[in-house]
Amino acid sequence: MKTISISTLSAMKENGEKFAAITAYDYTFSRLIENSSIEVSLVGDSLGNVIQGRDSTIPVTVDEMAYHTTAVKRGNNRSLLVTDMPFMSYSTEVNALDNAAVIMQAGAQMVKLEGGEWLADTVYLLSERGIPVCGHVGLTPQSVHKLGGYKVQGKEDAAADKMIQEALILEEAGADLIVIECVPSSLGAALSRALSIPVIGIGAGADTDGQVLVLHDMLGISQRLPKFTKNFLAGKDSIQEAITAYGNDVRSGTFPASEHCFK
Ligand code: KIV
Repeated sequence: MKTISISTLSAMKENGEKFAAITAYDYTFSRLIENSSIEVSLVGDSLGNVIQGRDSTIPVTVDEMAYHTTAVKRGNNRSLLVTDMPFMSYSTEVNALDNAAVIMQAGAQMVKLEGGEWLADTVYLLSERGIPVCGHVGLTPQSVHKLGGYKVQGKEDAAADKMIQEALILEEAGADLIVIECVPSSLGAALSRALSIPVIGIGAGADTDGQVLVLHDMLGISQRLPKFTKNFLAGKDSIQEAITAYGNDVRSGTFPASEHCFK
């Protein structure tokens, strides 16, 4: 079984091959994700919504992220394991280093942080100390109250240009991967072209290097299903088949289709 590393994803980007990521929160689903050959497993702080029933990701703690990371790690030795750093756990550089250490020691292979240029020094510090970093731009759910809701970001040219510049700064600071969430497809495509590191989209069109979905959304069991997701369990006999179909559809370019994208 070939394990996935950041070099695997970089080579896939270089060869124009798409890759799939999915959120994971526990051991059993993590095993299914490993069996489905999904390249990236993300312990998302979306666990605040889909596991804990909260109305945002803001209450999620570092200890909770570490707990779920340990469980997910036990179920999957193949996919690259990325874990979200939760709200305020990287608000200062010292904070970020200490909390990233907890998450890496729980089994993560990379940490994900939401934000743009203001994170450059933090990304540099983590990266210099051997902690791979995934940035997250566009709709950043930890800032939902500042953004005024879960809205498509980067619709105006100036905002789109700023997002690309900020992502380039994160890349320059040492980020290895970037997630871009809820933006027009044209911006997802432009960002993927501008960056040398792989870009994973969620609601960011069909032209990003990889795609990520929240597990409960793609199984059609979340309370509210965003436009950018698809119920992969519909018409399948098992969750295993649904996750495998998602990975195959991402790799073949069948998902996302135009109805899952923003203009
Ligand atoms: O927490 C999460 O699930 C995420 C994805 C939406 C990318 O950050």
